[in-house]
Amino acid sequence: MQLLTTVLFVVVLYCSILPFSQQQYTPDWKSLDTRPLPAWYDESKIGIFIHWGVFSVPSFESEWFWWDWKGSSPSPAAVAFMNKTYPSDWTYADFASQFRAEFYNPNEWADIFAASGAKYVYIIAFAIIVLSLSF
Ligand SMILES: *[C@@H]1O[C@H](CO)[C@@H](O)[C@H](O)[C@H]1NC(C)=O
Repeated sequence: MQLLTTVLFVVVLYCSILPFSQQQYTPDWKSLDTRPLPAWYDESKIGIFIHWGVFSVPSFESEWFWWDWKGSSPSPAAVAFMNKTYPSDWTYADFASQFRAEFYNPNEWADIFAASGAKYVYIIAFAIIVLSLSF
């Protein structure tokens, strides 16, 4: 898992920096909003965004699971799910040890994505890693 995370991080860094390496931006929206939209993104009719992280372990509702469970106005459905499914002292961090990605098969996934007609796939994992693939 650590190797996968490292590889994803390097790929993301490379893909993020390469197209913009000659352009200088300042850390504000006015500047950042001047960045060009990549043609492959703008011209694609179908793309796939995958949110994949420890919230995938309980697989309840969405990537907003933590907020639904522990946020300022918890969802009764999320709380009931946790009451029924996990011990009362379970924490969100406890899901991390169960996030093993044992079904991660990039070749199979790529075949499925390509067959869907999607022209790009974003895998948003661990809330900090974004992997961009275009084909
Ligand atoms: C969840 O469990 C807590 C603690 O036992 C309880 O106070 C609460 O009513 C339960 N909520 C739901 C929606 O099951």
